[in-house]
Amino acid sequence: MENLIIKGGKRLSGTVLTSGAKNAALPILAATILTEGKTRLLNVPDVVDIDSMCKLLSNLGVAVSSPDSDRHTIELNIGHLSRLEAPYDLVRKMRASVIVLGPMLAKYGHARVSMPGGCAIGERPINMHLAALAKMGASIEIDHGYVEATAKRLVGTSINLDYPTVGGTENIICAAALARGTTVIDNAAREPEIVDLADFLNKAGAKVSGAGTHQVIVDGVDTLSGVEHSIIPDRIEAGTYALAAAITGGEVTVSGCNPNHLGAPLEKLLEAGCEIATSRDSLTVKATGRARPVSITTQPYPGYPTDLQAQWLAFMTLADGSSIIKETVFERRFTHVQELRRMGAKITVDGDTAVVTGVERLQGAPVMCTDIRASASLILAGLAAENSTVISRVYHLDRGYERIEEKLRPLGAEISREQV
Ligand code: EPZ
Repeated sequence: MENLIIKGGKRLSGTVLTSGAKNAALPILAATILTEGKTRLLNVPDVVDIDSMCKLLSNLGVAVSSPDSDRHTIELNIGHLSRLEAPYDLVRKMRASVIVLGPMLAKYGHARVSMPGGCAIGERPINMHLAALAKMGASIEIDHGYVEATAKRLVGTSINLDYPTVGGTENIICAAALARGTTVIDNAAREPEIVDLADFLNKAGAKVSGAGTHQVIVDGVDTLSGVEHSIIPDRIEAGTYALAAAITGGEVTVSGCNPNHLGAPLEKLLEAGCEIATSRDSLTVKATGRARPVSITTQPYPGYPTDLQAQWLAFMTLADGSSIIKETVFERRFTHVQELRRMGAKITVDGDTAVVTGVERLQGAPVMCTDIRASASLILAGLAAENSTVISRVYHLDRGYERIEEKLRPLGAEISREQV
């Protein structure tokens, strides 16, 4: 196990480079199952979830490698898969593995994928994924905790999602890419990661239109070929560093990002009193004194992202007044609250709503990570707190943040990692 130790109270300043988006790379890696031949992915983040997905693909018979130890490039050679099963021990570690279901079913007519089970932030069922695949002609059985799906050939149809599920939209687009006929997905998720997946698939010969809007239309084709594709920047990582500048009263430029993917969070930072400057591929956040209290409600994109909720809540613990944080996407996404309270934060939670009353200062304390973004909020609080904060179970953080201490140290953070 490893801990991160932060000696807080330093204003961050300087420039930090954004990595590729984990939540774009994962569905695109899964979608390579639909293709034949060689694919080369660039700007892939070097994080644990990517390793898990690559291990899963290797298990299925995909040749996966990183040329000359550049871990930001992944080369895949897809022939005929030797296995069509995503086992429990891999899926439980990384629930995004369920995104291989649609591609396997579309390409091979069969898939056996472990049900993902719940996680710290909620039940996270996949009922909408399965209902859509069934509507496309798949027969779906649940067998000893596994989804057993078969289909002679999936048939395009119209699908209206009860909720704009990100993973569900990704699974359906992949399934539809090789289906017979046209699939229309209404109430589709609009996240930038969906657009990146569609861009990848269209390069490979697919016919996906409307990605990024509420309605995505996919005309099925017979085959898809390997391509080269560069993953979009990680908007959640970029937003996390923007909030690190804000909470420490510093000034940081986040480079290699796409500010257009961060409309809602940047709007909230302006309301809180920060100065924001943006260019085509960077954003600069400058704190101008104690933050004004600003409430947020998480929504599907382009609303305020749930993956930046914990980080915003940490920021508001030091604001000059009270703010309300409403989490509408997941039902249990306040696990960071009890840890922040241990650092002196004043927070009450009632169901999907947290009320944060700003305090003058946070005290460093031993705290524990519970999921990727809760971990990020503890890092932010530790950066601003007096004295030292020891953050344990950082494996949660490493799933979605690339060498965070190596990125923070050049900004002036006193942060180190220790084996325990
Ligand atoms: C993706 O998860 C992201 N993960 C999550 O990021 C992100 O928080 C989430 O989208 C929302 O933006 C990846 O992209 C790998 P959903 P996903 O399906 O696809 C319910 C991170 O920290 N739902 O949009 O699982 C579900 O329970 C992670 O990087 C159903 O009820 O999210 C949840 O309450 C955390 N039935 C809501 O919809 C379904 O069939 C949103 O889930 C599907 C979803």
